[in-house]
Amino acid sequence: MQYVKLIREKQRDKDMRNIIIDCDPGHDDAIAILMALAHKDELNILGLTTVGGNQLLAKVTKNALKVLSLVDEDIPAAAGEAKPLIKPIHTGEDAHGESGMDGPVLPEPKFSVVSDNAVQFMYEKIKGCKEKVTIAALGPLTNIALLLRVYPEIKSKIEMICLMGGGIHIGNRTAAAEFNIYVDPEAAKMVFNSGVDIVMAGLDVTNKAMIMDDERELLRGKGKISDFVSDLLDFYSLASKRFGFEGSSLHDPCVMGYLLKPDLFEGKRYHVDVETQGDITRGMTLADERPVPEKEANTLVLLEVKRKEFIDFVCQCVFKLDAERRDKKTL
Ligand code: RIB
Ligand code: CA
Repeated sequence: MQYVKLIREKQRDKDMRNIIIDCDPGHDDAIAILMALAHKDELNILGLTTVGGNQLLAKVTKNALKVLSLVDEDIPAAAGEAKPLIKPIHTGEDAHGESGMDGPVLPEPKFSVVSDNAVQFMYEKIKGCKEKVTIAALGPLTNIALLLRVYPEIKSKIEMICLMGGGIHIGNRTAAAEFNIYVDPEAAKMVFNSGVDIVMAGLDVTNKAMIMDDERELLRGKGKISDFVSDLLDFYSLASKRFGFEGSSLHDPCVMGYLLKPDLFEGKRYHVDVETQGDITRGMTLADERPVPEKEANTLVLLEVKRKEFIDFVCQCVFKLDAERRDKKTL
């Protein structure tokens, strides 16, 4: 067994994408995490960090550990910042409920965090990795802004920051701003202006990555993990409908979808900056779409997704996790 593991480790060094997932589970964060765990043959998940956002830090951290426990994946996890850099914390219980992941009932997590300092944890994981590392950012950008500020030299080891956040033509927390950016606009401004390559899965694309009720039903009864995702979406769809949407936008899964199936997406490169001073425009991600922009593009803004293929892919990730666990039981 050791020999097989050795080959796999060797393989891992050669052609894997090293990633760190920063998140605030969060119904859609949980699905994105499962998508990554279904593709450990392509993604070398160095760790998972949590940040206050959809709910308070303790709740989102517990939710992250519950998801890892559900699939029995002891990925190193670290808790991060409870509050934004400047603004007071603003949570999203209107969409995610009191626990931050209302709907499914999961047992207490069997794993614990290995650190309460996500910034230090991320720095050490990235520094210790031979190749560059991709950061998949699924919540407010507080941890990542601090990482880049405290350890600026680490930028050279970051492949890209693929983030769910913003929207160059639309908001959701306000008419101008998407939730993750709205919560910590100062952090977002630092990240977009850091010089690190950014892929932005904003509302322009994630509102098109919608799972419809009939597609959601296909998940029911296919296994423990599929039922968990079905329960997540049953609750999450209630919020979507309250906000006037026909289906549920799979916001954070678009980040993992892009990293695993980039051909399902289309985008354009723009210079994007973040409004931090405005009252009604706080957290707005402004793209310079002029024919001759003032500054060089810093962001690939995702604008289109092949919705049906993307939803099929998300479901296949979930079915794969259930199938792998059924196979394990028969070994
Ligand atoms: O606006 C959607 C984003 O806010 C997603 O990341 C969701 O999890 C919430 O954090
Ligand atoms: Ca999130």
